[in-house]
Amino acid sequence: MTVPNTPAAPSAPLRILGIETSCDETAAAVVEDGARVLSSVVSSQVDLHARFGGVVPEIASRAHVDLLTPVIAEALLHASVDGPDVDAVAATSGPGLIGSLLVGVSAAKALALVWGVPFVGVNHLEAHIYAAWLEEPDRSFEMPLAVLLVSGGHTMLVAMEGHGQYRLLGQTIDDAAGEAFDKVARVLGLGYPGGPAIDKVAADGDPTAIAFPRGLADDAYSFSFSGLKTSVITYLRKHPEADTADVAASFQEAVVDVLVTKTRRAANAIGAKGICLAGGVAANSVLRERMLDACIQDDRSAFLPSRAMCTDNAAMVAAAAWWRLRSDGPSPLDLGADANLRLPLLPT
Ligand code: KG4
Ligand code: ZN
Repeated sequence: MTVPNTPAAPSAPLRILGIETSCDETAAAVVEDGARVLSSVVSSQVDLHARFGGVVPEIASRAHVDLLTPVIAEALLHASVDGPDVDAVAATSGPGLIGSLLVGVSAAKALALVWGVPFVGVNHLEAHIYAAWLEEPDRSFEMPLAVLLVSGGHTMLVAMEGHGQYRLLGQTIDDAAGEAFDKVARVLGLGYPGGPAIDKVAADGDPTAIAFPRGLADDAYSFSFSGLKTSVITYLRKHPEADTADVAASFQEAVVDVLVTKTRRAANAIGAKGICLAGGVAANSVLRERMLDACIQDDRSAFLPSRAMCTDNAAMVAAAAWWRLRSDGPSPLDLGADANLRLPLLPT
């Protein structure tokens, strides 16, 4: 089934202000018709959290309070749109850090109320998936798609059968892929966030230097990364002189190998027309390269969001809101933030 990127032409372009504050990025963006990015501003709090080796929730929510108003103002300015002229205001309502989510949701509701436009609460996981629609206003998406969602908090394989229609195929039984990157980076002394640091260092290493285990290799679609992390720690204890680049490259190879093998397996099983990568780990250069190669070999479309749109941003929130507004209408103004919100799934 071919699903057009923009359904039955709406009478006028619809511009949505998206807001993202689920973790440690304060972001706002204006997106037209769910795909054309008019502006995308991301203010990272990474420096505030780096010395703690991870995100400190209390620091994150306070920083969102300070940063959000200027970030929204900048997004509107870059898009050359006056606030009252946006057609809807959307914010991530979960999952994420509750204090951080509340800052964005409250701001979005207040603006929607003042400007007299709909408010849309967006699922952060769905937003990551819709990052693939951004910057592709003319591309058609053929369903079903095999979606690999890999972020700091989640790792799941999903069959996307239509817009907003997801069937869970498998997920991690312990750590998320991004969490594994962050933990291994910490033991290698590469700092936080670990994914980009490992990606960079691994470019100078030999991915075949150390044969790290591929967790749950025999299970169809489930993932496990905690054993791999322990293997890296054990290896470093036994080989304190080990080359950091080789360890980083071999670890990355083990993660990417499992992710690509299982996504391909899932795509074959569901007869997927294409594969979509989503979430912060989708910015990984080797994962992107391998997934692209697999798609070319299997004659499938590859939907890879640009690297900037893989990690947390508000353009993806506005894109997902555009589709949700069409399928479900506006969210009620009493919608709360939900730290544990799940991707809405079809029965398996
Ligand atoms: O999606 P995201 O920005 O936030 C969550 O919703 O969790 O993902 C953040 C995760 C972090 O664990 C980070 O280390 C990882 O994505 N990440 C990467 C890369 N860039 C970000 N992992 C591997 N390679 C990268 N280039
Ligand atoms: Zn995210």
